[in-house]
Amino acid sequence: MNICVIGAGYVGLTTAAVLSDCGHYIDCVDINHERIAMLKKGVVPIFEPGLEEIISKNIENNHLTFSTKVKEKIDENPIIFITVGTPSLEDGSPNLTYVKLVVDDIANSITSHKTIIIKSTVPPGTNEEIYNMFIEKDVDPELFDIVSNPEFLREGSAVKDMLEPDKVVVGIKRPEPVQVMQKIYQQIHAPYIVTSLTGAEMIKYASNAFLATKISFINEIARICDAYEVNVSDVALGLGTDPRIGPLFLRAGLGYGGSCFPKDLQGLTYAAKKKNIHPELITSVQNVNDMQIDIYLKKLKSAIPELKEKQVTVWGLSFKPDTDDTRYSASIRLIEKLLEEGATIHAYDPVVKLDHPEIICHSNAYEAVKQSDALIVATEWNEFKEINWLKVKESMDGNIVLDGRNIIDPRIVRHAGFHYLGVGQL
Ligand code: NAD
Ligand code: UDX
Repeated sequence: MNICVIGAGYVGLTTAAVLSDCGHYIDCVDINHERIAMLKKGVVPIFEPGLEEIISKNIENNHLTFSTKVKEKIDENPIIFITVGTPSLEDGSPNLTYVKLVVDDIANSITSHKTIIIKSTVPPGTNEEIYNMFIEKDVDPELFDIVSNPEFLREGSAVKDMLEPDKVVVGIKRPEPVQVMQKIYQQIHAPYIVTSLTGAEMIKYASNAFLATKISFINEIARICDAYEVNVSDVALGLGTDPRIGPLFLRAGLGYGGSCFPKDLQGLTYAAKKKNIHPELITSVQNVNDMQIDIYLKKLKSAIPELKEKQVTVWGLSFKPDTDDTRYSASIRLIEKLLEEGATIHAYDPVVKLDHPEIICHSNAYEAVKQSDALIVATEWNEFKEINWLKVKESMDGNIVLDGRNIIDPRIVRHAGFHYLGVGQL
């Protein structure tokens, strides 16, 4: 099938790569010229395991091309995926400008049938609005189909998640495009959930809100565990064995970040308020998450009350392991607070190198701890689970280790001479 993917970000590139690998012919377009120039050379501008290999392979066998000619490629392809960003605005609502600009481009130039598949995460009612944008421009309803096909991939495992999803959600206005979707995803085996356009949008928002709820829940439990000297990891294990609860998304720590959970919970809250519904639970989930950094900071200050001019090392800058994405990273938010306290920050991340005047970035974990008073593990990269703690101890001036992700065995670091700090971790 001939498909145009609009937006070459985390979702767009993964969609383009996976669909080209499934045998389709993909034109992936973006308005970012620098990004497209890199991609044309086979250089992938983001760190996502496995993505570069599939992209190179499919550029070579002519199943995948990159271009900045958005209008031209829209014109040439009968199937269009919209995967542009929908970042939060000041008021918490998602910025739909990028989606609407693309929709405008399609509606203004449509002459043959297009199946327009919206993968960008948008609030309930947006796809209906998109449909109406076409009608208001007098486009014949027989000439287009709008499909809401939200994406559930996680960064760091995006390719695998797209190849092996738990479900394919398809929101439609009329039944015909379901077959088109089944043909596009012929090689991807997953149950279909067919619903209305708004139903699909709600499934996406509700999924992210529920996952974030699990995280804030376990983080609140961790605070109580801390007061009663109980290991939250044991509690999570006990909780997770109940099939009604499940073991995933019960890792306590610095809280959730990334480009989706914070934005989508804000978006859902905004959408609810628009209809005069005050979402108490979802608001609390966000409040718990926002407080999480301060809880850890307080823990650190219980050991070092005055952080001014102290050398603090932070391991991990991305919002989660196996990605270079730092959007709404808990690590960066924590660093900002430490800088406000007057600490000097040394950082190391396996892939992220920040260009920040106040953060001294190092090229390896051991180098970053030299002469530091305290070390914070902020992102759970595997590398930090295999650290030689005796070597770290020799380099550091101080003896404080704050485990922001519960990935360190406290017995091992204590044995190396450290004072271990965690929340809900003894
Ligand atoms: P991103 O910021 O990585 O990429 C968006 C891309 O769209 C950018 O490269 C930008 O230049 C391009 N773009 C913007 N306007 C354009 C236009 N008019 N024409 C062509 N290209 C344009 O975003 P992302 O992380 O891939 O997210 C995209 C959407 O998918 C968002 O709505 C997000 O909520 C949703 N989503 C993201 C994830 C994730 O893990 N990142 C997962 C599921 C859903
Ligand atoms: C999320 C959703 O999982 C995915 O379905 C959606 O498509 C996009 O948003 P992503 O943001 O890539 O994916 O990563 P995810 O693995 O969900 O982690 C999000 C944040 O939650 C990270 O900061 C992570 O560190 C944190 N997290 C996750 C926890 O703090 N505890 C957990 O148990 C799990």
